[in-house]
Amino acid sequence: MTAKIDIRHIPHATPTPADVRAKLIADPGFGKIFTDHMVTVRWSADKGWHDGQLRAREAFTLDPAAAVLHYAQEIFEGMKAYRTPDGEVLLFRPLENARRFNRSAERMAMPALPEEIFLQAVEALVRADVDWIPGGDGASLYLRPFMFADESFLGVKPAGSYVFCVIACPVGAYFKGGAKPVSVWASQDYTRAAAGGTGAAKCGGNYAASLIAQAEAIRNGCDQVVFLDAAEKKWVEELGGMNVFFVFDDGTLQTPPLTGTILPGITRDSIIKLARADGMIVNETPYSFAQWQADAASGRLREVFACGTAAVVSAIGTVRHKEGSFTIGGGEDGEITRTLRARLTAIQRAQAPDTMGWRH
Ligand code: COI
Repeated sequence: MTAKIDIRHIPHATPTPADVRAKLIADPGFGKIFTDHMVTVRWSADKGWHDGQLRAREAFTLDPAAAVLHYAQEIFEGMKAYRTPDGEVLLFRPLENARRFNRSAERMAMPALPEEIFLQAVEALVRADVDWIPGGDGASLYLRPFMFADESFLGVKPAGSYVFCVIACPVGAYFKGGAKPVSVWASQDYTRAAAGGTGAAKCGGNYAASLIAQAEAIRNGCDQVVFLDAAEKKWVEELGGMNVFFVFDDGTLQTPPLTGTILPGITRDSIIKLARADGMIVNETPYSFAQWQADAASGRLREVFACGTAAVVSAIGTVRHKEGSFTIGGGEDGEITRTLRARLTAIQRAQAPDTMGWRH
């Protein structure tokens, strides 16, 4: 039985003229410019998933009592569509996003969305807005599938109706400096997620909770915040919106394990698989902030990088904290960081064979 849904196409009355679109996508930045369309699918307890629409991107009408505005029942995904040198358009491991979306939904007591509908919606939007996909190195179409509770009811319980939506924006590099190493602020006052909490879910609340620490990072001249664990404030967890890897002088890699407080990044998983396929040892084991400082000082630590759909693979050059700061590998973009970034992006953009079967 197929779980597909009928997605009704409501034509856009005033699509962006081609010359205006070309100007917008020439230097898009990140997350500021949006394409013409969106896909919406509704869920209610009596009808299940229904009313699929591909239509002009527009504001929602929300009742002030909509559950999402009060109890933050909201989840999202981040994924990209790439234009290849042959003009083909590709998605990267989209089924993994569909699966993670449903794990997030389960944690937030929201209805599961059949993977087929998730893919159908994403593909419909990419097809409708295909001309918005920028070409060129580092550019892509960022896709943002999300779901929120729209039932008007102030009792605290899982809502009875939801909207699933996909929007898209042409993007360049997430960090302003492009591939230049970024700086991170180690937050010692705020944590992101505790055991039993929502750390592994991609829900808006996790990002809301990270913003005060991210603001502190910016005040301290850093690009991103890095969080330590909530129980001991000792172990490195992840950045505000990306996972982290450490590269040592013996060529081994280390990344914090998925114990339920960290987002299971699809880029994280891809890096682990690519590095292991290339014969590297990758340890998914805890790493303390004290050890990070000691290894940076001794030179045992050669490179550190952040990774995620938005950030791709970005070297971390400097770490600041309340007591001071330190640099890793002279603050440069290291060789393994560069190699893994090139390996990943070549697969995503069909510039290398798809040995893992990741292209869609
Ligand atoms: C992504 O990488 O897709 C995210 O959702 C993280 C956010 C910093 C944009």
